Amino acid sequence: MQPVGVLFVCKGNICRSPMAEAVFRQMVQAEGLAAQIRIDSAGTGDWHAGEPPHQGTRQVLQEKGIDYAGIQARQVTPDDLRDFDYVVAMDQENLRDLRRFQAGGGRTVHLLMDFAPASPVREVPDPWYTGRFHEVYDLVEAGCRGLLVHIRQREGI
Ligand code: 4NP
Repeated sequence: MQPVGVLFVCKGNICRSPMAEAVFRQMVQAEGLAAQIRIDSAGTGDWHAGEPPHQGTRQVLQEKGIDYAGIQARQVTPDDLRDFDYVVAMDQENLRDLRRFQAGGGRTVHLLMDFAPASPVREVPDPWYTGRFHEVYDLVEAGCRGLLVHIRQREGI
């Protein structure tokens, strides 16, 4: 069976979506599903292509003991929106910007916090502007946990 593809998307692909990629990968590995779920992240913009995650993201991930080796920013492509089964954006602006890459159709795009319905926060705020990387971590963690439950149920894995 082909692995289920999950792509996290934010604006710059250096703060939120690489954090989600690292957090989700750790959860997937902990459940022994590394071979069944393929995980990546991308940005709607290309300003930071080739860069490692932002210092604030690296610091939180180090504190939490989560590996982020090899994660490098890149811009989303129209192919991503066909190739990945779950495209998961951080905020409404990402959803709007993703439409530009979806000219030929493509997947339904999700909001990460839709997988954490108990949270009063519906979008992951951009720490590029707020500096609040720990708040982002808590939201990403809750969203990723719900996403994994959703995928396991839906895909029967
Ligand atoms: P991210 O944060 O979307 O969470 O990676 C941002 C990073 C860079 C920029 C905007 C948001 N930027 O404008 O360069």
